[in-house]
Amino acid sequence: MNRRGFLAAGLASLGAACGLQQAKPGAEPSRVALSDVKRLGVLRVDPIAGRCRYVADLGTRQVVQPILFARRGERFDAVIENALPQPTTVHFHGLTLSQAQDGAGFDPIPPGERKRVRFEVQNRSGLYWFHPHPHGFTAEQVYAGLAGLLVVTDDDDQALDAALALAPANRLALAIADVRVGNGVIRPYAPGATDCLNGWLGNQALVNGRLDAAWTVAPGWVRVQILNACNARGLLLGFQDRNEAEQKKLLPFHLLGTDGGLLAAPRELDRVFLHGGERVDVALDVSGRRALQAVSLEFDARHHAQGAAAAHRHPARERYAPLAAAAVCQDDSPGGDRPADGSALGLFTLRVEGRASERAPGLPAHLSALPDSSSPSEAPTRRIRLDFDERSGFLIDQTPYSVDEAGFSVNRGAREVWEIKNSPISMPHPMHVHGFGFRVLRRQGTFGAARRFATEPGGRFATDLGVKDTVLAWPNETLWLELDFSLPRAAAFGGPQRYMFHCHNREHEDGMMMRNITVL
Ligand code: C2O
Ligand code: CU
Ligand code: CU
Repeated sequence: MNRRGFLAAGLASLGAACGLQQAKPGAEPSRVALSDVKRLGVLRVDPIAGRCRYVADLGTRQVVQPILFARRGERFDAVIENALPQPTTVHFHGLTLSQAQDGAGFDPIPPGERKRVRFEVQNRSGLYWFHPHPHGFTAEQVYAGLAGLLVVTDDDDQALDAALALAPANRLALAIADVRVGNGVIRPYAPGATDCLNGWLGNQALVNGRLDAAWTVAPGWVRVQILNACNARGLLLGFQDRNEAEQKKLLPFHLLGTDGGLLAAPRELDRVFLHGGERVDVALDVSGRRALQAVSLEFDARHHAQGAAAAHRHPARERYAPLAAAAVCQDDSPGGDRPADGSALGLFTLRVEGRASERAPGLPAHLSALPDSSSPSEAPTRRIRLDFDERSGFLIDQTPYSVDEAGFSVNRGAREVWEIKNSPISMPHPMHVHGFGFRVLRRQGTFGAARRFATEPGGRFATDLGVKDTVLAWPNETLWLELDFSLPRAAAFGGPQRYMFHCHNREHEDGMMMRNITVL
């Protein structure tokens, strides 16, 4: 099919996909093998609400907003086609790819153009995701609906499902975003000055594209891989029994994995905090229950910065039309309807149907072998400061992002310790590194309310365990991370490779809280 044909067919098949206001219980977006994708189209489908969609063209049929599946070692070889009126990219968050395949912000696909992308999935099993990253437009495009999930599986992952005796409906991959809903309609992206400083928040959860989302599962273990796909909202995730909702009692669950796959051993919790871009993999036994509600509990969001109304304007924005709203980062809308960060939010429902045949099996004590971590004492330390500047907003090392900068250079194969210090006059920043997983060594300076999340040695949170690509820095905290810049043999990327390091609060990344990294 030629380009026009593809787009026309894509648009035609999308008519029905736009009426996403009400969730159809049990309806799950189609799963597509990564290796079957021939084209991945980025479409603007609804000029009024500004909702956008990914469309996977499989040669024989098209799937709107697919959940991609891959076995470790499988390949993606597809053309990415940009039908937006703005530049875009498709960045595979968490995967180790060459610069040319990474879809970073300095490498946009202009409107109407296409790019061939080919890579092999080399990462451990886990929940990864793909989203646009064009510098200055990321927040708007992701909020408009462009975020897709990639589930990577391997032997450890399959062994775990077998050990849990998981019913097919009991494994879920969910992207939780928050949207602003008024009069039953999702409002388009229209941040005011305060939103551009602190982040654009919604008042309702949109899970896999649906409001009031619900899934039907069978009794026994349920395994849910969850992405925080919100622009700027942290989620304090917990589960309650719907029939005991009054008591607000939290049901115990087990953390199986984080960003880069399974932990060495499961960890029992009753709540877990994940910020934008972070993922958790959890198991809960729903036997004997009829319905569960996943919620984000209230927490102290710790915003300690004011001002910077003019942050986040850059030349690229003026050249292209916005997807929906006309003015961003200007005045705050009168009426002050900005939802509060840290407020409680209902996320999704699990309905339990069917009769349990027997008791759910015990959880395996061992889940996977983590890549080893060198002795950090030998690794050189790189100091990074997260600052706040009244005029420019949030910055890394006082340096506003520039697409052309080389940024920091690191040597291929090197191990480094990064000491990231967040200013006390600040807010939480979920910091993300492209291309390379890292380990969180320890935290210091965590303020009182967030210290309750520090359940692990070294003052770490449960979401700091395992292999990470995104880590939260609260105001006043210092974090120590260990990074390993070796590229897998199969990657064999020739020459220096440029990646990005940034805050995943999408208003902050568009607002220049980002640096490039060059791997020499
Ligand atoms: Cu999820 Cu630089 O991105
Ligand atoms: Cu990324
Ligand atoms: Cu930030």
